[in-house]
Amino acid sequence: MQVFIDRIRAAIAAHSGLDAAELKIESPRDPSLGDLAFPCFPLAKALRKAPPAIAAELGEKLTGDLEGISVEAAGPYLNFRIDRGTLAAQVLGTIQEEGEGFGGSDEGSGKTVVLDFSSPNIAKPFHVGHLRSTILGATIQRLHDALGYRTVGINHIGDWGSQFGKLVAAIQRWGDEVDLEGDPIRSLLTLYIRFHDEAENDPELVEAGRAAFRELESGEEGEVRATWRRLTELSLAEFDRIYQRLGVSFDHVRGEAFYEPYLEPTIERIRASGITEESEGALVVRLDEYEKGAPPCLLRKTDGTTLYATRDLAAVFHRWDEFAFDRCLYVVGSDQRLHFRQLKYVLRRMGLDWESRVEHVDFGMLSLPEGKLSTRKGQVVFLEDLLDRAVEQAGAIIAEKNPDLADPERVAEEVGLGAVVFHDQKRERVKDVVFDWDEVLSFEGETGPYVQYTHARLASILRKAVEKGLEAAELAPESLAGLADSGELLLTLGRFPTVVRSAAAEAEPSIVTRYVLELAREMNSWYANHRVLGGDPEESRARLALVRGAKIVIGNGLRLLGVAAPEEM
Ligand code: ARG
Repeated sequence: MQVFIDRIRAAIAAHSGLDAAELKIESPRDPSLGDLAFPCFPLAKALRKAPPAIAAELGEKLTGDLEGISVEAAGPYLNFRIDRGTLAAQVLGTIQEEGEGFGGSDEGSGKTVVLDFSSPNIAKPFHVGHLRSTILGATIQRLHDALGYRTVGINHIGDWGSQFGKLVAAIQRWGDEVDLEGDPIRSLLTLYIRFHDEAENDPELVEAGRAAFRELESGEEGEVRATWRRLTELSLAEFDRIYQRLGVSFDHVRGEAFYEPYLEPTIERIRASGITEESEGALVVRLDEYEKGAPPCLLRKTDGTTLYATRDLAAVFHRWDEFAFDRCLYVVGSDQRLHFRQLKYVLRRMGLDWESRVEHVDFGMLSLPEGKLSTRKGQVVFLEDLLDRAVEQAGAIIAEKNPDLADPERVAEEVGLGAVVFHDQKRERVKDVVFDWDEVLSFEGETGPYVQYTHARLASILRKAVEKGLEAAELAPESLAGLADSGELLLTLGRFPTVVRSAAAEAEPSIVTRYVLELAREMNSWYANHRVLGGDPEESRARLALVRGAKIVIGNGLRLLGVAAPEEM
């Protein structure tokens, strides 16, 4: 589509003397008026004429100027309609040429985006909240990759903090009663819950936890640190299984502990800017000048230990120093909004202008019908259980629908995981998600399997065409004239690069999800009304070219979302 927009802009610029880049071409509100529109209001001032008069005059001048595009003035607007053969040749030609790269560009080249996502906590299960961060974060990274940005994905593992003192104390007391090596996450969770239960009436236990964390922070290489290290390794190995299954990887796995050496220099850096205050022995930065009632950011507690916020400040400086990012995105649940506002306020108080490049990409909670998930209370749904169940159910549906499928296990994995991953990105990310098995796995609703199924169906049409010796038409306007009544679909296909661009800009995967759903729906209803194989061969060939283009675009959309695009299911 960009090609047509550029040509229209250049032609208007040539006749009006205005700068082509400044001319705004939009989609008409009513698609029956045309494919693109130019509102003439911005020209009124320069040309000292009323917009309808400008539209009429310009319309006449442009007629014949734009090959394959007709012009019509309607009030203050100029409406443009692209000849369907020309549109088809351009859109399908670009898709065919760019293949898996279609949708992307190099507009981000030379710019760096840091993404902090997934970031589960050591010694706790990787729960569905972290699943959302992992899925959304990986998609937002792929979107930026597709646009040519240099991206740096960082897994900011929660491996530091007072809870590790508690865990070490719990292991010292009850470590023998659990199977740490065999089932680390469950064992550590049990110990964590037990610590919280018993600590209520056991001040000694509380003190033992505090002492262990103090020792950890002191940097001493003793038993406490060795235990902490063991916890970390056991947990990371567990998390890796899930990442592998989801096909997610990171450029850096840097836990909070990674920033330990930078904590003191960070506190010094902030103190040197003159914004810190002592408050009851703690070191704080007041923030109420930006937000009434905003609690101060605590840099160091009375007992000398640092906090989550201190470590995030150290991390953001480290990232700025290392990557000089254009964007630094934190894909973290909306329950941490205050934390990230505080982080940004501290940077703002320090007068750092790159503060605006730091964005909290927040998202709503994922809840299962059984209720909200809370680690501490032990109502945990282990992610692997969830994925297993999705794959199992997908397998059952597939076995029923297509008992002759060649590789049913692989497809079940692709469809089961695809269903969960798609569902998680279906609505605007700030919205809460309620997990409903029937909805997630349905082949008919607005689901991943529905889009995957559409993709597989297009693949099957193409296979059948090969069997019949039919090839897609040449991508030239004359050969594609048969697509005259498929303009809407062609325009939808041509819009994909814009979709990718806005999804990246807004860090909003649901823009892609909604788009592929719409495309799948349009494609299916087109297919219901158009015979692709078995009719007039010329017509079949033109329609096959469209099927091939749509298959590529749906596949690219799914892959950007981290969902497999099976050829058969
Ligand atoms: N580990 C944290 C949690 O599970 C999330 C960390 C997010 N990233 C960050 N830089 N604070 O709640």
